[in-house]
Amino acid sequence: MTDIARLETPKGWPSILLPPAGKGAARGTGTGTGDAARGAGGDASDLDAAMKAGAWEGLRRAIRDLGPTGTIAAIGSSGLRGRGGAGFPAADKWRAAASAPGPRVVVANGYGADPSSRTDQLLLETNPYAVLEGLAIVALAIGAEEAIVAVRATAGSTIRILEAAIAAAWDAGFAGTDALGSGHFLDLRLQTVQGAYLLGEETILLKALEGKRGQPQQRPPHPATNGLRGRPTVVHNVQTLAAIPWIVVNGPAAFATTGVPEAPGTILVEVRGAERSGVAEVPLGTSLREIAGLGGKSGGRALKAVLVGGPSGGILPPELLDTPYTFDALRAAGAHVGSGSVIVADERACIVDLARVLTRFCADEACGKTIPCRIGTRRLSEIGDRLATGTSRAGDLDLMADLASDIVGSALCDHERLATLPLMSGMRYFRTELDEHLERSSCPAGVCHPIAMAASATH
Ligand SMILES: Cc1cc2nc3c(=O)[nH]c(=O)nc-3n(C[C@H](O)[C@H](O)[C@H](O)COP(=O)(O)O)c2cc1C
Ligand code: SF4
Repeated sequence: MTDIARLETPKGWPSILLPPAGKGAARGTGTGTGDAARGAGGDASDLDAAMKAGAWEGLRRAIRDLGPTGTIAAIGSSGLRGRGGAGFPAADKWRAAASAPGPRVVVANGYGADPSSRTDQLLLETNPYAVLEGLAIVALAIGAEEAIVAVRATAGSTIRILEAAIAAAWDAGFAGTDALGSGHFLDLRLQTVQGAYLLGEETILLKALEGKRGQPQQRPPHPATNGLRGRPTVVHNVQTLAAIPWIVVNGPAAFATTGVPEAPGTILVEVRGAERSGVAEVPLGTSLREIAGLGGKSGGRALKAVLVGGPSGGILPPELLDTPYTFDALRAAGAHVGSGSVIVADERACIVDLARVLTRFCADEACGKTIPCRIGTRRLSEIGDRLATGTSRAGDLDLMADLASDIVGSALCDHERLATLPLMSGMRYFRTELDEHLERSSCPAGVCHPIAMAASATH
């Protein structure tokens, strides 16, 4: 059982942390805990308990009532967007895969690349059947015979729960030669992979699943038409998959009543840096203010910034706290949903220090296959280091903006663009603080200590 803390969130929406209650059952009983469904401290892989709460009803209805075309249409009209970060419409991938020649594959991305976000781990350990059922529904809809859950080889507790849940699903006939009487063969299995941050990126993950070196693949063709071992492959984040059974059972219109029209449903966020750290499930469109507030007030200190999206996230100022947590609004603000990580920085934080640590992480993690990313992120990281150590050169900020615009656009994966976000959002919203570092070698927050040394040595 996971010991990840859960932050209380308002009730009243369809929760992916709970098995999908059927029509007539109380909808949106979600406390965000999942314990209601299986008894506090219960076993998440207990199939009987999960089925009593509605698990696998979605697959049954997809087979009995909707069929492949109807299922794809239902997901399309629900407006479900991928929770893996970019918010790509789920049904578009399904259509592309379904119309490409088979055999086909569906993969649950449970890698959880960002160490500051355990949202996907919590879901897999709390409601594994929602993810497995979502996988089975996608497989049925696109005609895939292989359904793989990919997780880190080191995720011991998650692996134990998934192994038990997958074995129970096979025994109960939800996978196998004639999955739930659909006449469809489904090989549902767990595969572990191990690597660095980049392995969560879908083309790199697919290479790792093939047992090859984790390097990205040129797109197009996209995995939906040319993925695992060249087969049409739908890769979804585990949260995307977990929403699918609920949509099939309760209908796309009911799903669209939660969240906002351009981003319906709920999403998991992990709030850190406040009084309480932990994972919460919130309707998409919830304001950053409300999300950051879930963690409490950070010892009564004033909030200075919110880092949204993980190591390659954007650093947003308090004036943007009313930004709705959606794929498009965050992107427009210079951040992204990314891993679901929301880190609250109080008045003691230095934006330069924060941005340069993140940029260095992104540069270190870049796989190096795309030269502008490999060299560009390194140069950006050096500019961040110069700002923090009082060794900046005149024009460094212009150079930073130039580099960021040069880097973006020639990449094999989105890491190149995302890696520029910490410094660029820092420059966009905290320019005065960057100027202080650049022009006066001074750190207003008193964090960049080497600056004081550099300043006293050189001035
Ligand atoms: C650097 C990088 C790391 C990523 N890490 C993850 C990850 O850990 N988990 C995940 O689901 N998606 C991750 N993604 C996004 C995946 O590439 C892919 O878009 C996603 O799994 C698709 O699922 P969705 O359709 O449900 O959004 C990452 C992307 C990038 C660029
Ligand atoms: S953009 Fe960066 S991380 Fe992505 S493939 Fe190119 S070098 Fe690797």
